[in-house]
Amino acid sequence: MPSNSSRQLRSSDWFQDAGYYGFARRAWLRSEGFNADVFQGKPVIGICNSWSELNNCNAHLRTVAEAVKRGVWQAGGFPLEFPTISLGEMFMRPTTMLYRNLMAMDVEESIRANPIDGVVLLCGCDKTTPAQLMGAASADVPAIMVPGGPMLGGQWRDRRLGSGTDGRKLFDLFRSGRLTEEEWCEIEGCISRSAGHCTVMGTASTMTSLAEALGMTLTGCANIPAPDSRRLAIAELSGRRIVAMVGEDLRPSRIMTREAFENAITVDMAIGGSTNAVIHLVAIARRLGIDLPLDEFDRISRRTPYIANIKPSGEYLMEDFFAAGGVPAVMKEILHLLHGDALTVTGTTMRENVESAECWRRDVIRSASDPLYREGGTVILHGNLAPDGAVIKQTAASPALLQHLGRAHVFENYQQMREQIDSSDLAVDASSVLVMRSCGPRGGPGMPEWGHISIPRVLLGRGITDMVRISDARMSGTSFGTVVLHVSPESAVGGPLAAVRTGDEIGLDTAARRIDLCVPPEEIARRLAEFRPAPPHYDRGYGRLFLEHVTQANLGCDFDFLEA
Ligand code: FES
Repeated sequence: MPSNSSRQLRSSDWFQDAGYYGFARRAWLRSEGFNADVFQGKPVIGICNSWSELNNCNAHLRTVAEAVKRGVWQAGGFPLEFPTISLGEMFMRPTTMLYRNLMAMDVEESIRANPIDGVVLLCGCDKTTPAQLMGAASADVPAIMVPGGPMLGGQWRDRRLGSGTDGRKLFDLFRSGRLTEEEWCEIEGCISRSAGHCTVMGTASTMTSLAEALGMTLTGCANIPAPDSRRLAIAELSGRRIVAMVGEDLRPSRIMTREAFENAITVDMAIGGSTNAVIHLVAIARRLGIDLPLDEFDRISRRTPYIANIKPSGEYLMEDFFAAGGVPAVMKEILHLLHGDALTVTGTTMRENVESAECWRRDVIRSASDPLYREGGTVILHGNLAPDGAVIKQTAASPALLQHLGRAHVFENYQQMREQIDSSDLAVDASSVLVMRSCGPRGGPGMPEWGHISIPRVLLGRGITDMVRISDARMSGTSFGTVVLHVSPESAVGGPLAAVRTGDEIGLDTAARRIDLCVPPEEIARRLAEFRPAPPHYDRGYGRLFLEHVTQANLGCDFDFLEA
């Protein structure tokens, strides 16, 4: 065993037991064809694989796992790959967010229940990253993350296309008759050209980048494109590194400290990360007993420049971000805003990891002194409509709408919005504020990514491409627009969103961080007194567990009994 000789391995409880069960465990492992000397006394490295053919973004992870195994063998460890559930954003209904906590429990208990000394976490699609970090944080055995990387950029004729971002824009052209059926079919065949997660700074790219900012991946690991040979090379290095981490007892609780979370929030602001990152970072931190109030995100947002010119806030794709230097180049640029002493899985500090990083394309990663926006991507709003907070991605919004006063048009739920949004007699104009409720953690259920309400067809025809939209839903990280999300508390539990009536005035003042319903407080109280919750979506099974224990968005939507 390389550097672990002075420490008792956790797996020795399973395999060096002198009684019958030690014999039986060794014998049952040997039934897989291993000789006794390849595992006896070696660090057992679990490779936690979220591979699934039901998750195209993670469909290449078995190949990545083989590269990790090579590294583990090289370093004197013993690799054992195991599956967990996977969460494919495009296929799962009603939303993968309903199952993030289930996957986190699967990861945590798979690690805890088995003879694992260290674990390599293979993730990709949106929720697989936070789920693995939550589970690994709670299990707290040495862990390193290897994301699968972003897919190749889409290419249609002479246009590069970024996953959901351009898909949604082109769909609006199709809806309004400006793309033919044939063109739309062509786009379907070339917008997603390989395995890997979405190729814009959506939730997957954001969370894998933040895993690196937290210190949970090797330096430069997060953004290597999925089909790039360097993806497998760094997987191999990660396999080598986890064996040493076991010897160093380098656990997630030593890496994911408050300082590391502040680093991750700062990087999130600098890269214009997905609004979903707010929920996930809060949830991961609370697994470690670290409270991250939303105001902390806003404090960091105010001082952090947005510098990564990647869609949906910017112009480029993740391949360009990687070529420009990726997360290390961003961290070096904002090093003065980071806790440089934060420990990482490399065994060295974040500062040591990134201080030699270079930026190769200043059009993609701007300097801190010449940012794309003087503040961070995400802003936290408060007001009588969101007493516990709401979020907006100001860098993906229309500047002219960031201060706005307009009359509400209310949709009771997502289904009603879908049925009515393209009606020719929908009574809205460009100044209207579209409000949708019953989309939160309990109301959705699972807080689906429904917040990017389509622009009504009657306005699309007039060239309107953005409006203020407000809901207790989340929004895909690939989406854009002046969209207020995560309104807390949600309407389904009687939050003030439940009091809005069509025709009410709503004020959005992003600079002042306010979202307000312009109705007298006594009238809001009267309306809320009439509120009656809808019957629960589930009366049995996992859905019931979810409804009974999920926390609100500002607390991370974890289960209350899973927090530290
Ligand atoms: Fe998996 Fe976008 S659908 S990352």
